[in-house]
Amino acid sequence: MAAGARVFWCIRKEGTVLLHDFLHLKAPGHWINDPNGFIYYKGRYHLFYQHFPYLPRWGTMHWGHAVSDDLVHWEHRGIALYPSKAYDRNGVFSGSAVEVDGALYLYYTAIRYDEENPDNIHRALDNRFKASQALVISPDGVTFDNLDAKRQVLPVPAAPEAGDPQNTRDPKVWRAADGSFRMVLGSTREGVGQLLFYRSADGLTWTCAGRFGDPALGTTLECPDLFCLDGRWVLLGSPMGITADGLQYPDQSTWMPVDFDETTCRFALQGAPAMVDWGLDLYAPQTTLDEAGRRVLIGWMRMPRPVEEAADGRAPWRGMMSLPRLVEWRDGQLYFPVHPHVTACFTQPAEGLAPLAEHKPVRLQGTLRSGQTWNVGGYRLWMEDGCLCTDRSAVFDGLPGYRLTARTPALGQDTCDLDIFVTDHLVEIFLGGGRYVLSHVVFGLDGTLEGDFNTVTTVRA
Ligand code: FRU
Repeated sequence: MAAGARVFWCIRKEGTVLLHDFLHLKAPGHWINDPNGFIYYKGRYHLFYQHFPYLPRWGTMHWGHAVSDDLVHWEHRGIALYPSKAYDRNGVFSGSAVEVDGALYLYYTAIRYDEENPDNIHRALDNRFKASQALVISPDGVTFDNLDAKRQVLPVPAAPEAGDPQNTRDPKVWRAADGSFRMVLGSTREGVGQLLFYRSADGLTWTCAGRFGDPALGTTLECPDLFCLDGRWVLLGSPMGITADGLQYPDQSTWMPVDFDETTCRFALQGAPAMVDWGLDLYAPQTTLDEAGRRVLIGWMRMPRPVEEAADGRAPWRGMMSLPRLVEWRDGQLYFPVHPHVTACFTQPAEGLAPLAEHKPVRLQGTLRSGQTWNVGGYRLWMEDGCLCTDRSAVFDGLPGYRLTARTPALGQDTCDLDIFVTDHLVEIFLGGGRYVLSHVVFGLDGTLEGDFNTVTTVRA
């Protein structure tokens, strides 16, 4: 696979045009949201994503598909899942992947609008729709038969105990220790976020195994991800409506330690929720195991407007994936350090170069001290009240309604070790080896780099 700092077109022998992305998987044109079906399968990473292929805004959902050898060079493979049945004619919502006897099982939420908006059939009239859960079986991760290999596995909930008929979605499926299957769904009941648990012996026939509701799950819990890391269970999810300050993105992604019995599906919260990313643009992250068995996370970076002019000639695009991050327990906390495949790319000292002005990815490492302000292309960082604080007002095009400043919780110290990755539209700050991560979408970074950096590196040309 070709490497490089920039996206480019690659003409395959038979003449097919393939789009590649480096570091961040971006919309191949038009709209991208959640990562879906993230899996290391038959020696390659597969990352599917929520995609509206006609405009850079949300509409009838498809699953786009990209593959990678290393989580940093991504090759777009076109659309894998699309509406084809009465039950999913209005959208193939988020879900996950598992390998079963060499085949790839893709679980997703199938959407059927009560009524289409006559002026835009890609939206529901009055936002009313029904959700069921469905599966596509791919024999190889290359072919996806949306007609004959697609089936509904759970119907639209018919009673409140079975879930909300509209807001029950985003199946995360995994193999239990004994090889049988578990599924967790996000749902809502009387305005309180819920988790629904299902069990299956074969991945095809499912029975309900329990439910759990708590205000910590927001009004609806989107994209739940439940996994056992070093013997301790973690719930990752995107509870809706947890920041209520009138700004965009009231929905955020959190993690919490939980108690979960995989046999009975008995579930309890064990601690307070914490943010996955303190920049508040990251949403709907999904995890899988990498080639070394490490838990790795990728999240959707929400973009308030499209990027109109792409160097590689792609259509206006909106939305991209974060850098891959590991998920690790340290000192009773989850850390999210950048994946080593990312750091391995930054081998070129950038002293004397102007990587930002040349639109090259740059990595900045150093210790930020109280009283200093660093300037990364117009994006500012400083410490205040023991917290890392950032401000993107100069590089956000004056877009109204979005958070421009962000801060981590208090660190209990007046310095912080930072590892910052910057590309044209994204600044990702890893603090204290991943203790906190703070990422921001940006527009129009200038070439300035001012700060007490120990090391400035870029990728090989
Ligand atoms: C989260 C989400 C999911 C849903 C999908 C629809 O961003 O709302 O809950 O499945 O996006 O695109």
